[in-house]
Amino acid sequence: MTAIIDQLEHDHRNLAGLLQILETELDTLERIEAPDYPLMNMVLDYLLTYPDLVHHPKEDLIYRSLLKRRPELRDRLDDLEVEHQVLSSMTLEFADGLRRVVNGVTVGRSWLIETGRTFVDTYRRHMKSENAGVFLLAREHLTAEDLELAAADFHPIADPLFGGATEARFARLLTSIEIAAGLS
Ligand SMILES: [Fe+2]
Repeated sequence: MTAIIDQLEHDHRNLAGLLQILETELDTLERIEAPDYPLMNMVLDYLLTYPDLVHHPKEDLIYRSLLKRRPELRDRLDDLEVEHQVLSSMTLEFADGLRRVVNGVTVGRSWLIETGRTFVDTYRRHMKSENAGVFLLAREHLTAEDLELAAADFHPIADPLFGGATEARFARLLTSIEIAAGLS
């Protein structure tokens, strides 16, 4: 019955792996070496596709269900929805900077490092707060019917990276994730 929460937690583990890739490339950039910009660009393309269009809206539905059961959580749940909007804006901003680099436009190294580090930290903090807080509350307080209704309200697209049928544009990224995880 809690399959929808299981999936959200699974998504978080996948996202943590992607943030690790970004962090490794930012470390490279900070050492004044050449990072793999196309790979970073792939991570941001994915974040704009699946998390922003599927994962976060799914969480928002769960939070609205939870709000009906636990109205006293309103401030906390509202904050998380705002954080989703902030993450979406930050993703667009960082993705735009990386696309410029890939297209040969000069972008300041310090801007990339600072924007990238803030982005990774903000994403991690947000997911940590959800894992340790509202996901547990959702498991505790939402009924099977609440979760079924939330799932029925949602018509997701398939995950183009981790969903089993990886799109060609993300094939190299999946290989990098598997190598980083010691699976390849
Ligand atoms: Fe979230």
